[in-house]
Amino acid sequence: MSALPRPFLVCPVCVSALEVTDRTLACALGHRFDAARQGYYNLVTGKGSPFEGDTAEMVDAREQFLGSGAYAPLRRAVVEAARRRAADTAVALDAGAGTGYYLEGLVADLPGCYPVALDLSKIALRRAARRLPGGISLVWDVWRRLPLADGSVDVLLNVFAPRNPDEFLRVLAPGGCLVVVTPRPGHLAGLEAVGPLLSVPAHKADDVLASFGGALVEAGREDLDYVMSLPRDLARSALVMGPAARHARAEDTAAAAHDAGAAPLEVAARFTVQVLARA
Ligand SMILES: C[S@@+](CC[C@H](N)C(=O)[O-])C[C@H]1O[C@@H](n2cnc3c(N)ncnc32)[C@H](O)[C@@H]1O
Ligand SMILES: [Zn+2]
Repeated sequence: MSALPRPFLVCPVCVSALEVTDRTLACALGHRFDAARQGYYNLVTGKGSPFEGDTAEMVDAREQFLGSGAYAPLRRAVVEAARRRAADTAVALDAGAGTGYYLEGLVADLPGCYPVALDLSKIALRRAARRLPGGISLVWDVWRRLPLADGSVDVLLNVFAPRNPDEFLRVLAPGGCLVVVTPRPGHLAGLEAVGPLLSVPAHKADDVLASFGGALVEAGREDLDYVMSLPRDLARSALVMGPAARHARAEDTAAAAHDAGAAPLEVAARFTVQVLARA
């Protein structure tokens, strides 16, 4: 982890500034958080969170799927949307960052930006910490007060992950932007051959905008549609990495995935990439 570009982390216990020294975050009142061996910082103390981050199986599947390049067009669209509005020195927070795939793309285009990956899954953040050696990876629950100062985030990414509108508004810098990715109805159509899909509700992007109660306006919206040709193992990963996995029986999806000689599946990718800024 490199030095913070400015003091923007705050202690999750007492809300005073967190200073970074060698592999330790510490506040003036003596609360300390040491880096895990894999490089992330676990800020969740006490009883922890009632929510669950992604499991090892989901993270492995996501890593395999993203590594295939199947969502590379989405990453390009996210990075492009953020880059148009951000200076090279931006602090970029990804809330629900998973393995850090989108922040990695942003850093490649804006090498001076400081990436902050926040997620509840330690397993996902092990990967993010490796991917983002010049930034910081924080285990934290997005439903709690974020460990970031008011107005400290220039670019806030939120890709298929939970949103906390009050906290997003608090940490977003006055000229900052929030880039949100949501799926549209028909997303992943074609995967039914491998396992059951959850249906995607319509108008998710409108709901995202409404959830900010007029405090943010839409500065951009792009619908992105394409077809992915997925070999059976990747098709299974697409299912296992997402919410449908919790409803599917692993042995069923595994059997479908190993259907010998089966042709690749044509699977729809249907997203909305939204850019929100202060009204
Ligand atoms: C569908 S995954 C998306 C991950 C990443 N944005 C991507 O697209 O590759 C949702 C992510 O949200 C995280 N998550 C779920 N609930 C959370 C919470 N309450 N606080 C922080 N992260 C959470 C999960 O661990 C998971 O990494
Ligand atoms: Zn403290």
